[in-house]
Amino acid sequence: MTRALNRCYNIAKLRERAAKRLPAPMFHYIDGAAGDEWTMRQNTGAFDRWELVPRFLVDVSEIDLSTTVFGQTISMPLFCAPTAMSRLFHHEGEYAVAHAAERARTMYSLSSISTVSIEEAAEATSGPKLFQVYVFKDRGLNREFIARCKASGYDALALTVDVPVAGNRERDLVTGMTIPPRLTLASLWSFAMHPRWVWNYYTHPPIELASVKDRIKGDVTTLVSFFNDELDRTVSWDDAAWMIEEWGGPFAIKGVLSVEDAVRAAEVGASAVIISNHGGRQLDTAPAPIEVLPEIVEAVGDRMEIILEGGVRRGVHVLKALALGATACSMGRPYLFGLGAGGEAGVDRALEILRTDIERDMRLVGCRNVGEVTPSRIRRVER
Ligand code: GLV
Repeated sequence: MTRALNRCYNIAKLRERAAKRLPAPMFHYIDGAAGDEWTMRQNTGAFDRWELVPRFLVDVSEIDLSTTVFGQTISMPLFCAPTAMSRLFHHEGEYAVAHAAERARTMYSLSSISTVSIEEAAEATSGPKLFQVYVFKDRGLNREFIARCKASGYDALALTVDVPVAGNRERDLVTGMTIPPRLTLASLWSFAMHPRWVWNYYTHPPIELASVKDRIKGDVTTLVSFFNDELDRTVSWDDAAWMIEEWGGPFAIKGVLSVEDAVRAAEVGASAVIISNHGGRQLDTAPAPIEVLPEIVEAVGDRMEIILEGGVRRGVHVLKALALGATACSMGRPYLFGLGAGGEAGVDRALEILRTDIERDMRLVGCRNVGEVTPSRIRRVER
């Protein structure tokens, strides 16, 4: 790991480094969210409404951070969420993230709109892996996804439900973000200032949506047009039930923010819900995951695994989620900042920062394992 990455001692520093190394369209695609970005800010900010209450004189010489999600043991209660088109941020792309997750002994999640295919990602890692499903208008793709994931040994599927239409990503309009990246008047200067990224981009195979390229029509121009043209708005709970049955293994509904939808997910047979607002990239003013976690835990916590995704930047955020009943957390931007900051080594660094943080915080709060992080360790701030 380079000295520069080592000097990034938190996720905010990795973000700063990614901002320097990436052309503006790529950086702001990661960093931006929908509308006024209120939800994105809340995702992290809402953790501040909770305090952790430490207990002392506990022997914390040995700490066990491991836990189980989707039937897989992972070495810490945090894993890599699916994110689109990792090659945009570094030419090592999805491979970098899959390798780093495997090394960290945590779960890797591949997006439906990745730049390596289901099979290529599966070959790249023997660690636990999840595939994220978008329902495309071409419904044959759903059946195909399930068959390909079974054949390639994926451990779990997650159906993302929060994209009936693309969110209003205004930063992408400002920076001229297109997929694949193109020189536009808005982006010209920024590409010129990042020759290393441009060189790597042009000396590696072209970016394509590897798992779906044979099925979708034409060139992708913007994410908004891709989502709006290709994804199916008619998708319903019956489709989720069909998919769960067809898959027959651990299955998450991803994007749940209400008790009603969590209960429905349990009723149709999902084994997990991922509480997420898509990093604030879909409906701005949707609640932060940590805000709705307690009521969802109360409703379905005895029946399902509950993953909190959104706003995690520190170990204490993970501990707060666990104390409020989450099984584990997942994260997207933190490892993407790592990827942009330094490829595979940068993703390693993001995972290392957060693991070190979680471990330290477990000791400080007086918990020796994930099971000991109970509601007794957390209080709502009443000020
Ligand atoms: C893709 O899922 C995105 O949020 O950009």
